[in-house]
Amino acid sequence: MLNLRDEFAIFRTYPDLIYLDNSTTTQRPQYVIDAINDFFVSKNANTGRGNYKLAERADQLLADARKKVAGFVGADINEIIFTSNVTSTLNLISYAFLNDTLSFGPLALTAADEIVLTQAEHHANLIPWQKLAHRTGAKLRWLKVDPSGRIRIDRLEEIITSHTKIVAFTHLSNVTGAITDVQPIIQAAHQVGAITVLDACQSVPHLNVNFHDLDIDFAGFSGHKMFASFGTGVWYGKSELLEQLQPVVYGGGIVEDVTLETSSFVDSPLRFESGTKNFDSIYSLMAAIEFIEHVGRTNLIDHEYALTEKLLEIQNIDGIRILGPTDHNNRIGVVAFTVEGVHPHDVAQFFDSQNICVRAGHHCTKPLHRIFGVPASVRASVSAYNSLAEIDQFIETLSKVRGFFGV
Ligand SMILES: Cc1ncc(COP(=O)(O)O)c(C=O)c1O
Repeated sequence: MLNLRDEFAIFRTYPDLIYLDNSTTTQRPQYVIDAINDFFVSKNANTGRGNYKLAERADQLLADARKKVAGFVGADINEIIFTSNVTSTLNLISYAFLNDTLSFGPLALTAADEIVLTQAEHHANLIPWQKLAHRTGAKLRWLKVDPSGRIRIDRLEEIITSHTKIVAFTHLSNVTGAITDVQPIIQAAHQVGAITVLDACQSVPHLNVNFHDLDIDFAGFSGHKMFASFGTGVWYGKSELLEQLQPVVYGGGIVEDVTLETSSFVDSPLRFESGTKNFDSIYSLMAAIEFIEHVGRTNLIDHEYALTEKLLEIQNIDGIRILGPTDHNNRIGVVAFTVEGVHPHDVAQFFDSQNICVRAGHHCTKPLHRIFGVPASVRASVSAYNSLAEIDQFIETLSKVRGFFGV
């Protein structure tokens, strides 16, 4: 097992803290904190603007960061666009399908088209498509989940048809922890000429993800869920698709030429990165990937697998219902659950009184919670710095909850 707790400064500040809310955001390793500090001490300059040495080095660092991210997720450099989080990424992708998007004509939606989503989506990969459907008249359809919350792929031909223009789905549910069987979905979509969009927000931090191998058309994730600062998202797009797209946010840094009447634009990725970038955060994402590479991707995955196996033992406690698969195959350590007779917020507060951070609520997945028949749940989610001893403590605390509340 890995032993990384000492590398995360927050645990020096709070030595007793057990942090199990990693799906919401991770803690940052000292390595990344040092990189951010170093950025402001010796590297701070805006990108794409100056021709003095500091600014030129900033441009080089931005290029380095892009290369690092591209290598990490199996993409080309011009296919990696920096946004502010996966939510902004998914919104930007959805704008690309509007009827008024100039050169995206062949893919712009009409009222005859359908957008396929799943019942397991985070609101960030649901509402942008709802709004796109409202604006274009296109119809929404959904892949259903099975009783354990896994996205069903047994009726793909029924749902993904010649009317389908977009199939947008999560790679990994932030509630059930289930890994989606992506290949059949992508193949079914491509067979009918639809564009595929992957919410990779929970998968990139926990799995080995290669966008080229997946043959996905668009994807996105957020840096803050993988040890980087807040404020950086990634938008991946196949270069042949990005070439067809007009910018969706206009302003400085993206132009080839501008007159008072009209403008033309540079190619991807800068074409889609209008305005000043969150450069220190992008820099921290490069450091976060270096940290992950230093620890070793396989080591991280193996470590989290062992934690997940242990975490799932909560199903043996009376009154606990896991919302998601109860076996550890094809899933990661995101475990949402309910405690019979105790409100999720009370459960989370009891954990907090024991210095254990878990999340309570609907986790931005109201439709999925409705399918499970509950308004909210408690969620524990693991990361590299958690230990088996912490999970033991978590389980012991959970076994006391109902007694504490007199249930
Ligand atoms: C699956 C999934 N998609 C999207 C998001 C939104 O992420 P962000 O708030 O970083 O945009 C989250 C965050 O929890 C998530 O888990």
